[in-house]
Amino acid sequence: MSSDEIDYGRRRMLVAATTAMGGVGAAYVATPFILSMHPSAKAQAAGAPVEVDVSKLEPGQLLTVEWRGKPVWILRRDKEMLENMKSLEPLLRDPHSDDLAQQPAYAKNEYRSINPEYMVMIGICTHLGCAPTFRPEVAPEDLGPEWKGGFFCPCHGSSYDLAGRVYAGMPAPTNLVVPPYHFTLSTRLVIGVDPEAV
Ligand code: FES
Repeated sequence: MSSDEIDYGRRRMLVAATTAMGGVGAAYVATPFILSMHPSAKAQAAGAPVEVDVSKLEPGQLLTVEWRGKPVWILRRDKEMLENMKSLEPLLRDPHSDDLAQQPAYAKNEYRSINPEYMVMIGICTHLGCAPTFRPEVAPEDLGPEWKGGFFCPCHGSSYDLAGRVYAGMPAPTNLVVPPYHFTLSTRLVIGVDPEAV
């Protein structure tokens, strides 16, 4: 898998792979974000943590890294995104993250994160495992005037907000999963290790 950059109007989605998958390539493509690689793909697959420098992530950008063979999104939410999320509660299935299996205790809050500015989420739809797409635009034509930015799963149409909270009435039964993570510096995080484990 290669590093890729996709234009989404004002915002961009950065995709970075941290491990080689199934013969696609022998090495990941270096990015300014990934700080540490662990000894082998085997160790990585077994759950070695991934350390990421998010200091160069711009407001509105989404970075995808791989942890335990899964895509993990890191979104730097800007002020408009955080503001827009506030009005969504009545439309969501589990706005307060009461399903405790979907996030660690430290992410059971309004923004489902340690720092509201940074969303950290496993990018796998909780319906049947497709990959939702990042749709940060407000009221795009195909998603309608009520859309405030979020993630849209193209397989069966489940919609999530920018905290991975699923809208009511969707095929997906739960919010997206927040993995364990913590910050070692304000812009440096480790995915795969809880804060209390450090
Ligand atoms: S897998 Fe996402 S809606 Fe079905």
